[in-house]
Amino acid sequence: MSTIGATLKTAAWLLVLSRLLVTPASAQQQQQQRASLLPVARPGYRDRCGDITIPYPFGIGAGCFRDDGLQGFQLECDDSRSPPLLTVYGYNHTISSLSLATGEARAYLNALRMCYDSTGGFVSRSSDSYMSLGTSPYLFSAAKNRLVVLGCPIFGYFVDSSEYYISGCVSQCRPSNYAMPESTKSCTGVGCCQSAIPTGINFYQPNLFNFSSGDPAFAANVTGCHYVFLVDADWFRYSDRAYLNRTDDIVVPVVLDWAVRNVGNCSAAKRNVTDYACRSASSDCVDSKNGAGYRCNCSKGYEGNPYGPYLDGGCNGRHAPPHIPTHLSFFYLCYCFMIE
Ligand SMILES: *[C@@H]1O[C@H](CO)[C@@H](O)[C@H](O)[C@H]1NC(C)=O
Ligand SMILES: *[C@@H]1O[C@H](CO)[C@@H](O)[C@H](O)[C@H]1NC(C)=O
Ligand SMILES: *[C@@H]1O[C@H](CO)[C@@H](O)[C@H](O)[C@H]1NC(C)=O
Ligand SMILES: *[C@@H]1O[C@H](CO)[C@@H](O)[C@H](O)[C@H]1NC(C)=O
Ligand SMILES: *[C@@H]1O[C@H](CO)[C@@H](O)[C@H](O)[C@H]1NC(C)=O
Ligand SMILES: *[C@@H]1O[C@H](CO)[C@@H](O)[C@H](O)[C@H]1NC(C)=O
Ligand SMILES: *[C@@H]1O[C@H](CO)[C@@H](O)[C@H](O)[C@H]1NC(C)=O
Repeated sequence: MSTIGATLKTAAWLLVLSRLLVTPASAQQQQQQRASLLPVARPGYRDRCGDITIPYPFGIGAGCFRDDGLQGFQLECDDSRSPPLLTVYGYNHTISSLSLATGEARAYLNALRMCYDSTGGFVSRSSDSYMSLGTSPYLFSAAKNRLVVLGCPIFGYFVDSSEYYISGCVSQCRPSNYAMPESTKSCTGVGCCQSAIPTGINFYQPNLFNFSSGDPAFAANVTGCHYVFLVDADWFRYSDRAYLNRTDDIVVPVVLDWAVRNVGNCSAAKRNVTDYACRSASSDCVDSKNGAGYRCNCSKGYEGNPYGPYLDGGCNGRHAPPHIPTHLSFFYLCYCFMIE
């Protein structure tokens, strides 16, 4: 530990000892202390929204999240909803899970849907379905997501914020009396197609290009509705053709890769000790595989929160979690504020 750290630690101890004499730790603090030997969020801060665990560097409220100038680690929890709704502050994307271990988050987007009647007249479309991740820590996972197009004949695709093409595919029709047995079960281009997306994507605006080609080969069994959406490929199963008749809004899950992105990689990040996100001494830095930035991982044999500084979560030896006496819980809180 650096001299300044040691000085702060001593100062914290003195402050704490003097306060302990007059201020016993509250029942609430004691309860928080007992709640977990491997705390995931900073002690004294809210670490849950409904069933969702919120580990640091994510957090709710001022001073509780990593603030490196790029929005996105700050979250909001709307407790008036049932279940409570977790969203990214400034973006309003709904989040249903966050993982330190995989560097993934799960969010939701609206499928784009266009429906026509049998004479080709416009019937209805879905509400807005674009999603912007801006300069936040999140990017769409190229490994886990696919762009899926349902219905036929249609060319579905998505564009970036400059409205240039990123990825898409064509879903064609076949007469039902010539149906291929497998094509109703797997998404291979008849009535359903899917395409992979590249890494580094932070913007998604879907589009459907309705080509009314005169080719009768594609004119049989056209579907009334067409859909396009980016989706977690493990979640989407093209076995339920009932999708093809849905006229309500369809909300689908997408996987986001998050990383600390205010610095390009680990070697650059390690040069600025105050800004370096891997606070635990027993942690390793891992370069981001999707876009610029890095993540932290507990070293082999340790577990916990690598983003938590000393005593504040941190990575702990797997078989020997530290025993922190209850009467020190006030010190525990105070120390973490002191090193801010
Ligand atoms: C944020 O998202 C929620 C859920 O999708 C929605 O109900 C709410 O209207 C949105 N708020 C804003 C300000 O866009
Ligand atoms: C394609 O769009 C045209 C109008 O631009 C419409 O008349 C036609 O019915 C549409 N066809 C399909 C299959 O959606
Ligand atoms: C599908 O196409 C075949 C032949 O073109 C036609 O006989 C049949 O009625 C169509 N079925 C539907 C559901 O549109
Ligand atoms: C969709 O609705 C049409 C007309 O009601 C029906 O003929 C068709 O079988 C339905 N398709 C699916 C996949 O449910
Ligand atoms: C890390 O980032 C720095 C500064 O952006 C760059 O000069 C260096 O080549 C990068 N190192 C690696 C291993 O990518
Ligand atoms: C290190 O990071 C801190 C906090 O983000 C920042 O204020 C400071 O300018 C950085 N120092 C250097 C040398 O980049
Ligand atoms: C992080 O550490 C765990 C346990 O040591 C290991 O299984 C995992 O592969 C590591 N992740 C990365 C991205 O290195």
